[in-house]
Formats: sequence, structure tokens, C-alpha cells
Amino acid sequence: MILAPQNQDKTIERAGLALRQGKLVVFPTETVYGIGAASNNPNAVAKLYEVKKRPQFNPLIVHCANKEMAFKLVKVTKLAKHLGDIFWPGPLSLVLTCLDNSPICSLARAGLDSVALRVPSHPICKKLLEIAGVPIVAPSANPSGKLSPTKVNHLDEALISHCTEVIDAGTCSAGIESTIIDARNEAPVILRTGPITNLDIKNQTNMHCIYPKSKQGNSPIAPGQLESHYAPFANVRINATNKKKGEIFIGFNTPNADLHLTETGDLIEAAAKLFDLLHVADKMNPISIAVAPIPNIGIGEAINERLARAAAPRN
Ligand code: TXA
Ligand code: MG
Repeated sequence: MILAPQNQDKTIERAGLALRQGKLVVFPTETVYGIGAASNNPNAVAKLYEVKKRPQFNPLIVHCANKEMAFKLVKVTKLAKHLGDIFWPGPLSLVLTCLDNSPICSLARAGLDSVALRVPSHPICKKLLEIAGVPIVAPSANPSGKLSPTKVNHLDEALISHCTEVIDAGTCSAGIESTIIDARNEAPVILRTGPITNLDIKNQTNMHCIYPKSKQGNSPIAPGQLESHYAPFANVRINATNKKKGEIFIGFNTPNADLHLTETGDLIEAAAKLFDLLHVADKMNPISIAVAPIPNIGIGEAINERLARAAAPRN
């Protein structure tokens, strides 16, 4: 069932218990809606991969109610402690080496000896994680390869039919998925750009993020980082400066566009609206969706990464 916002208090509790019992639940985070399962329950995790049609080589992010719960699962490095102190709770995931006796099942990690951890700041998510009492794996709540949901009306009917609860908390504020940093060594290695930018990390820690070696040459940088991703049904044409016949044109400070990521050049506003406008444009059944150029600075880098994947050739 979909929970109306006014009934949330009673029902977050029911959703937390459902997670603990191995059921799937859709819940809000500050980035995008997630579909959660108990990370220590291989059957629940297997069901999650199945309903999302997600390849099992693509590991999941483990969500924890607080930093202490997260750091009990891994070998904590100086860098992880530093980043966790500054950016948690918030839209940052840290990849660390998983402890041998960690309860996170191997399937959740796609068999890797590392795990990505996240401590979300969304109050409903935090409460849900506290009630669940176990770390929760939660990919974005979309069929694998499709657009991430930032509102419940973006959710795929078939996907949510497998979920015991769907918690509606309106629009996710950041609108794009968490930044992922490999924090196993001394320097932060950026695996996925997101709401916390390289500049935020530099300003707050005085450290420069580095890109993984495999990023050079455009090959995948983390398991599951497939080229085509975040794909609407319609084709996507990026860096468009005009609208062609049959297209819906999404603008960035572009007066003649059909839909506007921002009318003032605000990149944070554009990130928050990105998936919603792609969903809206897609529902209009255009020949393709044209998107104006986005400045590649700050969170613009994360927006461009999502758009490049949305526009990549499909399998
Ligand atoms: O904002 C978010 O992170 C959202 C919300 C729901 O929390 N979740 C999310 O999960 O974006 P998902 O499954 O859509 O993306 C997880 C990404 C994948 O690209 C995966 O390859 C990477 O995290 N990942 C997970 N574990 C990893 C690991 N051990 N090493 C490297 N990459 C990892
Ligand atoms: Mg995703």
C-alpha cells in the first residue's frame, strides 16, 4: 500500500518491521527513492535483485541509521572517519573493506570483499532504519537501467507490486544519487559523482579527489556502472542547442525550451529536477528528448554523467 504523508508515523514502524522480516519496502531518502531489503537476509536480497532485474555482479549500497552502526561493519580508515565526521548523515557513500564477520550477506556485496556504506539524512529514512535495526541494502527504486524515482508517481507499478510498503514523503530534495568515494586508502577516489562535489570535499577536507585508473578510457569504474543507465523510453540527445521536430526540449536557462531544469542557471535546482523532468518528458511520448548543455562544474558534473548514460546506446 502507499502511505499517505499524514499516516506516516504509525506506518514507518510497520515498514521497519517488514524490512526486518525480509520484506521489500520503498522509502524516501534525500537523494532518490530506494527499494530496501535486510542486508543480512540472502533471500530478501535475492528477491530485490530479481524484482529490479539487476545483474548480480552489481553490488548494493548498505544504509545505516548512524555512523556507529556503519563503522561496525568495516575496517575504518582515517580517511573514512574524516569524511564520515563531516558528511554523514548525508548523500555520501563510502566504499570500505568489509569485516570477515560482518552480517552483510555476500550477495549484497556481489561477492566483493568491499562494501559501500551510506548514512542518509532524510528524517523518515533515518527513523525507518532505526526501527529496522539492521543495515538495509537499497538501490534506487527503479527497474535496473531506468530512470531513478524522485517522487512516488515515478515508481514502476510492476516493481512496487512486490513491495509490502511504499512510503510517500513527496519530492527527494537532492534529486540525484549519492556521491560514492572509495575510502580504503589515503586519498579519496571518486567512483560516482553526486550531490557532494569534488569542490565540497576539497573545501571541507583540503584533499583532492582522484579518479580511478579504469576511468581513463571511459571503461566502467565500479561493478555495475554500465554505460547505458538512467534511460527513459525515449532516446536522449544531449548538448542540444535547438529543438528538432517531434522532440521535447529540456532547457537550462534556455528561454525557448518546453521544460526548464532552471531558469536562472542554478545547478542545484537543475539536479533536483533532472529525473522528474526526464520522467515528465518521457510520458509525452516524444521521438526523443533533447537536453541543453549543462555547465560541467560542481554538481553539474554529476548531472552530465547521468545525462551521458541516459543518452548512451542501449543494448
Ligand atoms: O543515493 C543513493 O545512493 C541511492 C539511495 C536509494 O540511497 N542508492 C543508489 O543505489 O543509488 P544504486 O544501487 O542505484 O547504486 C549503487 C552503486 C552502483 O553503481 C554500484 O556499482 C556501487 O554503488 N557500489 C556498491 N558497492 C560497491 C563496492 N563495493 N565497490 C564499488 N562500487 C560499489
Ligand atoms: Mg540506481
